[in-house]
Amino acid sequence: MTVGEHNDLLHYYYGKKLADREYKAIAMKDENQCAFLPEGYTLENYRQEYPSYGYSDLKSPAYDVFNSDGNNISMLKVTDIKIKDGVYNPCGLPHILQKDNTAQTSYITLCDEVINLEVTLIYTVFDEYDVIIRSAEFKNLSDKPIRIDRAYSSCLELYTEKRDVIYFPGSWARERYMERAEIRHGEKIDISNARGGSGHNMNPFAIVCNENANENYGEAIGFSLIYSGNHSTYIESDADLNLRIMQGINPQDFSYTLNPNENLETPQSVICYSLNGIGGVSRELNRLYRNNLCRSKWANKDRPILINNWEATYFDFTEDKLVSLAKTAKETGIELFVLDDGWFGSRNDDFQGLGDWFVNKSKLPSGIDGLSQKINDVGLKFGIWIEPEMVNPNSDLFRAHPDWVIHVPNRQPTLSRNQLILDLTRKEVRDYIVKSISNILSQGVSYVKWDMNRPMTDMPRPGYNYEYTLGYYDILDRLTKAFPHILFEGCASGGGRFDPGMLYYMPQTWTSDDSDAAERLRIQYGTSIVYPYSSMGAHVSAVPNHQIGRITSFEMRCDVALPGQFGFELDLNKCTDHELEIAKKKVREYRELQEVFHKGDCYRLKSPFETDLSAVEFVSEDKKTAVVCISSYKATAYSPDEFIKPQGLCENATYRIGENSYDGKYLMNYGIVFRNDRENKSEIIVMRAE
Ligand code: DGJ
Repeated sequence: MTVGEHNDLLHYYYGKKLADREYKAIAMKDENQCAFLPEGYTLENYRQEYPSYGYSDLKSPAYDVFNSDGNNISMLKVTDIKIKDGVYNPCGLPHILQKDNTAQTSYITLCDEVINLEVTLIYTVFDEYDVIIRSAEFKNLSDKPIRIDRAYSSCLELYTEKRDVIYFPGSWARERYMERAEIRHGEKIDISNARGGSGHNMNPFAIVCNENANENYGEAIGFSLIYSGNHSTYIESDADLNLRIMQGINPQDFSYTLNPNENLETPQSVICYSLNGIGGVSRELNRLYRNNLCRSKWANKDRPILINNWEATYFDFTEDKLVSLAKTAKETGIELFVLDDGWFGSRNDDFQGLGDWFVNKSKLPSGIDGLSQKINDVGLKFGIWIEPEMVNPNSDLFRAHPDWVIHVPNRQPTLSRNQLILDLTRKEVRDYIVKSISNILSQGVSYVKWDMNRPMTDMPRPGYNYEYTLGYYDILDRLTKAFPHILFEGCASGGGRFDPGMLYYMPQTWTSDDSDAAERLRIQYGTSIVYPYSSMGAHVSAVPNHQIGRITSFEMRCDVALPGQFGFELDLNKCTDHELEIAKKKVREYRELQEVFHKGDCYRLKSPFETDLSAVEFVSEDKKTAVVCISSYKATAYSPDEFIKPQGLCENATYRIGENSYDGKYLMNYGIVFRNDRENKSEIIVMRAE
């Protein structure tokens, strides 16, 4: 970027690193052809870093203000540039951490001197990653309020070229399905969500790539937002296919009044560049999020293998039933028992009890501390489910504080899953949550599953969702700091809030309520493009599967869950001896391979969106160990063999697979032959350099 002769912040180029001397004057088109500005030039003919509204740029702006003069015209001119070592820590928002890496941050300050609005654009770069982390900070230097109606975190303008966009829409039990579309002339594409959390229906992530880019080849640029509220990645293409790509808080319903001397910070948008296709973007973001996002002490530690009672019992459990499940889990090698929904207040179904965070003694006479002790006596750690943001109208909390829910005066708030959302913008509500949940977490709890099961409606004012999200981050911040030893897992009706903002506070997220092994192949494939397998909760469940009724082999169910944060979610007491033997074997296998699954690079070799099988490979940093996980969910009686070609191996090394040895070159070029002769067949192929 550069400061233009009229102090505008203009953009040179984004792409493969060039030598300094190659940064020539900004390319522009038809410079004086239509001179709008008094200076005699037209901003629309330049690529810009953070375009304004109202002068000679007629595309969508990166920010929008409504000032006390009653208009929304604005123009920013550069006033200051600073470069500092280290990363930037926005206040109250999750962000990239420096850890042991070398980072520098540029602060470019711009000012609209007519309305006295200051905007600082913040750019962090690392020596170790091909990413730029961007955000913006707004400050009102005037003595009158300024209303901000749009505040994107990043803007990137790209030259004319044919490009596609890849994005990750979905629904409950079908999260992050991967879709691809051509970006056409003059098109406006908004990859966004306005349902309250980051959402099942659209992940805050997109890739813009060459039309011929694929998993391994071509230019690809990833845009990932570290935020858990309403988001937007907006692409505007002009008639010549020049692109403006902006990412940040969704402008729909956004509005924030900045009073004099107040400031507003936007979430971080991570822009990642690759010449090695989608896989290049994916591995870079996986690495960044594995190493520099999560602040929990669990971030890079091996986490316990868990059993969750939800699909085993739903609301119908007793202390004895839980302890008996824990005993069989212990014999299987499982280390943590998680008690899901139904342990508190009058919560015997999903119509009641949410908000009453005290144990239901008629179900659990020993209380949480007593049950936790019993589980510990079996030899397992104890974890618990909570949904702190919510309340059922049929609860003591709601009866005591009906005004604590999000609502609009004179209107009945909308119920969803029979529940309402607590107004986290109010300090007394946040304090209640922190106090009541802290009380539970102090009772021998070493793991928490933090759920959220409805979209946000009835927002009392524009901009509410941003305020709510800050309130939500405040309680997460307080609770995770107060209980640093606890492993937190995020959840929102499955993977409805699987985003980098959550991973900052909680190192893993429940990937989906769809526990069917075949469907999980797609969900995990799409998720893995941006989020590492180490962040995905993945459990072995019962058959017929509770969501779709499909029958898959016990082995395949284990193999599909194995590379994630491995766990079980079924009644082990109903498993056959043979199944329990497989479970024990898989627990051992997981412990042997966990390091490469969670710290290695991930290569997707066969896409379940394109073929009837999925093949995913993990390669350790030193390339000495690689594992390919293959699962087929459809076969014909005489399906042709599949040649699965691993990547990222050392060409000249020899790898042992079972009793045989192969050259890296051979494996990567000839491949591994997979006989796709049975439906629901899976194989875990381990390659170790000799
Ligand atoms: C939704 C979650 O995704 C499930 O795993 C389970 O915890 C239920 N909520 C409990 O109500």
